[in-house]
Amino acid sequence: MTDGPASKARVRQAFHRAAERYDQAALVQREIRVRLAAFAAAYPCTRPVRRVLDAGCGTGQALGLLAAAHPAAELLALDFAPGMLARVAGHPRICADLEHLPLAAGCVDALWSSLALQWCTPRLALAELARVLHPGGAGWIATLGPHTLHELRAAFATVDAAEHVIPFHPPEHWQAAAGAAGLRVRALERTACAALAPDLRALLRSIKAIGAQSVGHGPRAPLGRAAWRRLEADYENRRRSDGLLPATYDVILLAVERPQ
Ligand SMILES: C[S@@+](CC[C@H](N)C(=O)[O-])C[C@H]1O[C@@H](n2cnc3c(N)ncnc32)[C@H](O)[C@@H]1O
Repeated sequence: MTDGPASKARVRQAFHRAAERYDQAALVQREIRVRLAAFAAAYPCTRPVRRVLDAGCGTGQALGLLAAAHPAAELLALDFAPGMLARVAGHPRICADLEHLPLAAGCVDALWSSLALQWCTPRLALAELARVLHPGGAGWIATLGPHTLHELRAAFATVDAAEHVIPFHPPEHWQAAAGAAGLRVRALERTACAALAPDLRALLRSIKAIGAQSVGHGPRAPLGRAAWRRLEADYENRRRSDGLLPATYDVILLAVERPQ
């Protein structure tokens, strides 16, 4: 969820810089792609699929799943971070903002978007996705809900009043935005997924490595030693019986369709 062109530029820059380390760090993202693929298979497109858009494709890790599901289709890989897109090979690449798609109306039969839309204004991005989707076309979206990184949000609240974790929209907001864009919501599911690490530094590194740190409100001064100790002490309360610290991702899966 961005709050204007300046923060959008920072999000784009953060993902551009994270591209090199993204695939090793993005374990939760991989798990969510697998869940989204199963969800998509449960709500298939009812028209022939000749072209699929991966909106916010990152390094293109979903393209193999999409090719397996739609072997005859052309797959368009779209992302606004050039560093991410540079890692995609073998498919048409489009460097563009999801909220302003350089694509003709109705030109894709299906669309997939995994963990990109939470960085967008739902109403704008869904209107664009609805526009490029052919009538009868299907969309499968994974995004994040308000419980995401709740452990981190609570731990930071013991330190200061700043917003260290970006806010995420609830499912009803996505549902309403999809409806306003003219999309029919076929199904909405909510599922939790956890990133795990032996200590808080490693956990924060994994969140940061995927470009998902709080970049919406500009650069922040590093935490002082006392604040860091309070943060670590609070997070210790979350340690699981297997000895690992969790960071929860509250995943919202949406299957949509553009009515005929
Ligand atoms: C967490 S990554 C997910 C990448 C990929 N879908 C995956 O499953 O691994 C989010 C991606 O969305 C892209 N993104 C975020 N906001 C975007 C926007 N407004 N327009 C285009 N791409 C965007 C980022 O550059 C990044 O590559």
